[in-house]
Amino acid sequence: MAQSRTRSDTLRAVVLGVGGQGLRRAQAIRLARGWSLAGVYDADPARAAAAARKLGCESWPDEATAIVGSAADVVVVATPPAAHDRQIESALHAHRHVLCEKPMTIHADTASFLAHDAERRGLVLATGFNHRFYSPVIQVIECVRSNRLGQICHVEAAIGHPPDDATLNGWLGDRGRSGGGVLIDNGSHLVDLIRSTAGELGPVKLEDARWHERKPGIDTYLKFCGESGTGATLRAECSWEHPERPYLAMEFVFEKGVARISAFPWKSEFVEYGKPRTANGHLRDRIAAKWLGFRAPGLESSLVRELEAIRQAIRGEARADASTDFGTAHDGARVAEIVESLRNQADAVMEDRQRSIGQAVPRSRCA
Ligand SMILES: NC(=O)c1ccc[n+]([C@@H]2O[C@H](COP(=O)([O-])OP(=O)(O)OC[C@H]3O[C@@H](n4cnc5c(N)ncnc54)[C@H](O)[C@@H]3O)[C@@H](O)[C@H]2O)c1
Repeated sequence: MAQSRTRSDTLRAVVLGVGGQGLRRAQAIRLARGWSLAGVYDADPARAAAAARKLGCESWPDEATAIVGSAADVVVVATPPAAHDRQIESALHAHRHVLCEKPMTIHADTASFLAHDAERRGLVLATGFNHRFYSPVIQVIECVRSNRLGQICHVEAAIGHPPDDATLNGWLGDRGRSGGGVLIDNGSHLVDLIRSTAGELGPVKLEDARWHERKPGIDTYLKFCGESGTGATLRAECSWEHPERPYLAMEFVFEKGVARISAFPWKSEFVEYGKPRTANGHLRDRIAAKWLGFRAPGLESSLVRELEAIRQAIRGEARADASTDFGTAHDGARVAEIVESLRNQADAVMEDRQRSIGQAVPRSRCA
């Protein structure tokens, strides 16, 4: 990897977009070993100034100065999804490494182009799939790698929490800016978790889809199935329609047992057939979240662990704990491809339904 432009041991980062996730990213950068927060930029200058005051860093008046003039090593993109591709491109052109929030882009072909571009330039382009770094997910990945319970035969998975009205009335409910609803938003994490545990997915088949009544092109429920390259079957649901359900629940049926994880708060359980079950309530994360006023137990640690893995890749260091890898640009691109395939199938169902009830089809697809 390109190490020439890194001048000290500490990686200096700038964060673009300091809304909810950008602020969390910025705080994680301050906590992570070998990272420092150079500054922030936000399209809303008042928000940028407030974040800079809170975080004790610089804020830049425009994006170009934040990327080029800041002399940062890494650009962290935490803006709404439709802005990601252009901002990644600007950062790569300025020879910056990039950590971009999920979804990497709202179009799969752009994601793939950017992944190859970063590779050609010898830069790390990481996708913010921090769910991989939650303790229970790390446990499942370790279980797969160690082959302790044999191979995964089946995965049952569900994700999604309904956004509040204010959030939905912002970029999230506007398909041009978000790329869609629950599938691309929460579902990108789910697809990544399934790939990270059960292996690469083959074609995925839509089983059901529903849309928001007032937000054209915004899916609120999506069910799909598929199979991984290792032969594991999967059934998954992404839903903003079930507030009573946990945000995330996954069951992994192995040859020799079962693993279950759910959040929030995180719980995990491993059952090896014929042996006592082991359960973990991840109490340390819960206590830390309560004492430090964090948003969700384990969230900050997941972001810090992810930064540590990215730092080691930028530095070309061997990973001390190689159980979980960060999401590469190719992971981001592959997830975008799977999401796009499901979105296209869902759009076709929507058009059929509209035709069958004789209504005009809303042209809400992204340009
Ligand atoms: N990894 C996770 O678990 C997780 C959680 C939440 C959000 N996210 C992702 O993070 C990204 C941001 O989501 P959020 O919830 O923080 O949104 P948000 O609306 O809270 O914040 C977005 C910020 O970006 C700013 N902005 C908008 N356009 C911009 C531009 N062109 N340049 C600079 N700033 C711009 C806005 O003013 C706002 O401050 C999205 O991609 C989202 O999917 C990831």
